[in-house]
Amino acid sequence: MIIKTEHLCKTYKIGDQVIEAVKGVDIEIERGKFVSIVGHSGSGKTTLLSMIGGLTRPTHGKVYIDGINIWNLSDEKLSELRNKKIGFMFQFSSLIPTLNAIENVMLPVAFGKGVSGDVERRAKELLELVGLGHRMHNVPSQLSGGEQRRVAIARALINDPDIILADEPTGDLDRETEDEVMELFLKINRDFGKTFVMVTHNPELAKRTDITLRMENGSIIAREEHG
Ligand SMILES: Nc1ncnc2c1ncn2[C@@H]1O[C@H](COP(=O)(O)OP(=O)(O)OP(=O)(O)O)[C@@H](O)[C@H]1O
Ligand SMILES: [Mg+2]
Repeated sequence: MIIKTEHLCKTYKIGDQVIEAVKGVDIEIERGKFVSIVGHSGSGKTTLLSMIGGLTRPTHGKVYIDGINIWNLSDEKLSELRNKKIGFMFQFSSLIPTLNAIENVMLPVAFGKGVSGDVERRAKELLELVGLGHRMHNVPSQLSGGEQRRVAIARALINDPDIILADEPTGDLDRETEDEVMELFLKINRDFGKTFVMVTHNPELAKRTDITLRMENGSIIAREEHG
């Protein structure tokens, strides 16, 4: 299993208020699968995703990535694992407005070390893969919403992660663009064997994934496999 959780819980305390956002989630995800997570607003989807991605520390329970108990790692080792193994895509793409497309794609590498010619070549290849070979030197404000989203996809892939975690990555796109982005995800999943975990509110998109997990009130209440 590339991802496994054991009795994963997150409780937020604000003054006297206790919010059980995630309540004992056990999931196992095989390498190369495309998993969607659906559920009402506030059911705990983002909290779950961000604990799996090593961004939010669980209150209880464990997350294993490739057999590694990630919340037992030092901060340094955890951020190294995150950087190497996980690509993130969130709802509102957070491209840097002053950097052009290729610079945005190289950003996760630039954080770590100096940018080599290899990285630039790879960034170009990824922009071509997402159909933006001709817009590499445009800044985000010169790109459409769907194009910006595709830059964010290329950026999520720059470190060649095994896992892509996406939180409503197509939420603010029109239907046609949403379909295009989904096609691209499915292609990356199929052709490169990347494991996807994607939160979506769109049941049509969920149907096209291998497995749908339904969350309600902090728990997984259903698991559906699609042929
Ligand atoms: N940092 C926080 N502090 C306190 N409560 C939080 C925090 N983050 C989330 N919550 C609460 O935890 C619960 C689950 O939130 P979460 O964001 O995981 O839901 P979600 O399923 O992603 O919802 P949506 O579909 O609206 O994005 C909600 O009741 C929310 O208010
Ligand atoms: Mg959310």
